Amino acid sequence: MKSLTDTFTLNNGIKIPCIGYGTWQAQSGKVAVDSGKEAIKLGYRHIDCAAVYANEKSVGQAIIESGIKREDLFVTSKLWNDYRGYDEALAAFERTLKDLQLDYLDLYLIHWPAAIGKTKDWEAENAQTWRAMEKLYEDGRVKAVGVSNFLVHHLEALKKTAKINIMVDQIEFHPGMMQQKTLDYCKRNDILVEAWSPLGTGKMLGNAVLKKIAGRYDKSVAQLCIRWCIQNDALPLPKSVTPSRILENSQVFDFEISRQDMDTINKMEYFGGSGLDPDEITF
Ligand code: A2P
Repeated sequence: MKSLTDTFTLNNGIKIPCIGYGTWQAQSGKVAVDSGKEAIKLGYRHIDCAAVYANEKSVGQAIIESGIKREDLFVTSKLWNDYRGYDEALAAFERTLKDLQLDYLDLYLIHWPAAIGKTKDWEAENAQTWRAMEKLYEDGRVKAVGVSNFLVHHLEALKKTAKINIMVDQIEFHPGMMQQKTLDYCKRNDILVEAWSPLGTGKMLGNAVLKKIAGRYDKSVAQLCIRWCIQNDALPLPKSVTPSRILENSQVFDFEISRQDMDTINKMEYFGGSGLDPDEITF
């Protein structure tokens, strides 16, 4: 990858720009509008949204105000957990499109699997929701469909009834938490892994090992983490509402992490993250 507009290719042939601008926790209103516009101005062409972030109207506004052509932008959103099931998911999709003021999405994801710890019928629930994703895909309302926070057993279960291949799995992915089993499974099955919280929501930034490695390349820890995702074939989605950081997070194409440093980072033990277990979530 050499620039923000270089792409990964999904298993249906759709191309997806290699860094997504993350919008989780970007405050709705001026903050989300201004930072979204800034990201587009700086060259980001992939925006990662979700209904539950409660800022889709602002992100939609940023897209309009940026003046960018719709076809030059890759927009993802996610179906929230309250709307699992066929009819509910289709209705939720329409609300998201309306909020974003768009007439199609590039990628639509199931935000979380039905939690095993909470729902007995988690497999059936996920299967029903996936049927809605397939309908949206077949009707041309979305260019690609996938899931988020699905572990291997969720993916395997969904595969039993899916008629359309899962194209993406967006998971928590940062040093100390690279979810090797899920990553390996996705690679074997041609599912692109996207990395949410590639900076561990900031928890990576003070780590001494990462600081030392980043220093070798004259880069920040944030840039190291983002580059590390890409070199692991995981598409990073760094979030920032700060213009200087939005720029910094895009400047990761002028260095290459050595095999040895990749190994060191890949082997790091867990040292912080969201702590969320997809089988145990209560939301
Ligand atoms: P802010 O949005 O206020 O700029 P993640 O993408 O892992 O969820 O991390 C997001 C968090 O990390 C946010 O708090 C964001 O702050 C902060 N952040 C994003 N980019 C950088 C950076 N380059 N340097 C330091 N902090 C950053």
